[in-house]
Amino acid sequence: MVELDGRVAIVTGAGRGLGREHALYLASQGARVVVNDIGVDNDGTGGDRSPAADVVAEIRQAGGTAVTNFDDVSSWEGSKAMVTAAIVAYGDLDVLVNNAGILRDSTLIKMSEDDFDEVIRVHLKGHFAPTRWAAVHWRERHKAGVVRRRNLVHTSSTSGIYANPGQANYGPAKSGIVTFSQIAAKELIRYGVVSNCVVPGARTRLTLASPGLTEIMEPPVDGFDEWDPANTSPLVAYLAGATCPFNGETFYAQGGTVRQLKSWTLVGDSIEHPVRWRLDELDQAMRAFVQQH
Ligand SMILES: NC(=O)c1ccc[n+]([C@@H]2O[C@H](COP(=O)([O-])OP(=O)(O)OC[C@H]3O[C@@H](n4cnc5c(N)ncnc54)[C@H](O)[C@@H]3O)[C@@H](O)[C@H]2O)c1
Repeated sequence: MVELDGRVAIVTGAGRGLGREHALYLASQGARVVVNDIGVDNDGTGGDRSPAADVVAEIRQAGGTAVTNFDDVSSWEGSKAMVTAAIVAYGDLDVLVNNAGILRDSTLIKMSEDDFDEVIRVHLKGHFAPTRWAAVHWRERHKAGVVRRRNLVHTSSTSGIYANPGQANYGPAKSGIVTFSQIAAKELIRYGVVSNCVVPGARTRLTLASPGLTEIMEPPVDGFDEWDPANTSPLVAYLAGATCPFNGETFYAQGGTVRQLKSWTLVGDSIEHPVRWRLDELDQAMRAFVQQH
């Protein structure tokens, strides 16, 4: 049984797309939700409070409990304020869903320094900073004797797993998020915190901006809409549950499909030398890897 009733959850980037669906779903399961979003465009520019406000209104209209939050996830002080906002509104924090994101795609030769920095900042620092402040709070609570399950759910991407060309900023940020999740899993379990990652596939404005995806993700006239972003939310809710048995894991979710991903693993046989390799010997021995490949 997945327990979410009464749990306090922050969902970042919850004004639109996947985050919006996660917030609505968590609230429908009884969670009290902080709907964070600064309402930026795909590339991180602009700002609009109405998407987050609309999600909160929708949750309340359905009988759920939610508040807005407009802090930037990649801001150190903003992240601290966001965690504080949850504690002020609902007395504690149980779940942090790190989801907010932007895109600035281009080939690496054309990529500007700003496009690289901004995407790394929003995704990687935008996962680290809220997690850091949540973890500080959870450690304090744990030391004060409040021992219960706390959950981190992070958002990676196939771009980070399979290395999509044209995303030399986004891909590394998204693989970095998986490693970050695993490190958080190892460091924070002592405070009762589990940390897991989702790799979603869904029709949102981010994916609709990618060439070729619009046609693939076209909703069907009838039947199951496998690219509906809401399809990912039950997995997020599962990983946010008080009895979640996973820690440090990564799951792909699209439509009705959920798959587990494994981290980097050593493959094939090693080549060995009793002392440091000489270059010509290594040149010879390295051919074994070409054959294994
Ligand atoms: N849609 C997919 O198929 C897909 C696939 C892989 C990964 N993702 C990831 O899922 C997450 C959600 O993406 P989406 O597709 O729903 O996109 P989206 O653009 O619909 O939603 C992203 C939301 O994040 C908000 N946001 C951006 N920067 C922010 C910041 N600094 N602080 C607070 N809010 C901020 C935006 O305002 C927006 O509402 C992203 O991390 C994205 O990389 C999506």
